Amino acid sequence: MASIWPQQDATGGGTGGRGYNMSIESIDPRAFRDAMGCFASAVTIVSTTTKQGQAIGMTVNSFNSVSLDPPLILFCLGREATNYEHFLAAGRFAVNILRRDQDQISTGFARAGANFFQTLAHKVSSMGNPLVPNALAIFDCQTEAIHDGGDHVILIGRVNELRHDPDGDPLVYYRGRYSGVSPET
Ligand SMILES: Cc1cc2nc3c(=O)[nH]c(=O)nc-3n(C[C@H](O)[C@H](O)[C@H](O)COP(=O)(O)O)c2cc1C
Repeated sequence: MASIWPQQDATGGGTGGRGYNMSIESIDPRAFRDAMGCFASAVTIVSTTTKQGQAIGMTVNSFNSVSLDPPLILFCLGREATNYEHFLAAGRFAVNILRRDQDQISTGFARAGANFFQTLAHKVSSMGNPLVPNALAIFDCQTEAIHDGGDHVILIGRVNELRHDPDGDPLVYYRGRYSGVSPET
């Protein structure tokens, strides 16, 4: 059976293996999620509005930078997501990076079928995107491109406006749990 790393067999019996299935022929979704869980990330709420002007948002940790010049960022949006069509139709979105103490906001925006903005007093960016109050950083974007990404699409955003708090700490998502990180002094 083919394996990702030549010295490891399927039972992890090779050098450094610990019983993980390394097959590239059939990747178990659970194993994929667990391995991805080792990649600690910040947590964001991506937000936009429907055509009727209703604020909508969802919890996303697939956010990343793409390019400095022009300033581009990306996130991956599940094709089955409740707000999938709204994000594609809006042509703009904001990325709100959460603070360490905003895990309940993350949980609220991750709830299937719910719209947490209805319970959250919020302002709107100059582009019209709803903003999470007191976020650690905000990127206000116009959709630059949409690429295929399997059961997700990859939305590339061009940053029109941004701001951040230089002193705050981010909420971190790691192995399926929330935690924090503080810069070393
Ligand atoms: C920490 C965390 C990160 C997530 N990251 C993403 C993501 O990057 N892309 C995505 O489409 N959904 C992501 N989700 C799932 C959505 O937030 C949401 O739970 C999912 O779309 C189900 O709600 P819905 O069926 O109403 O869309 C994430 C959820 C959590 C808790």
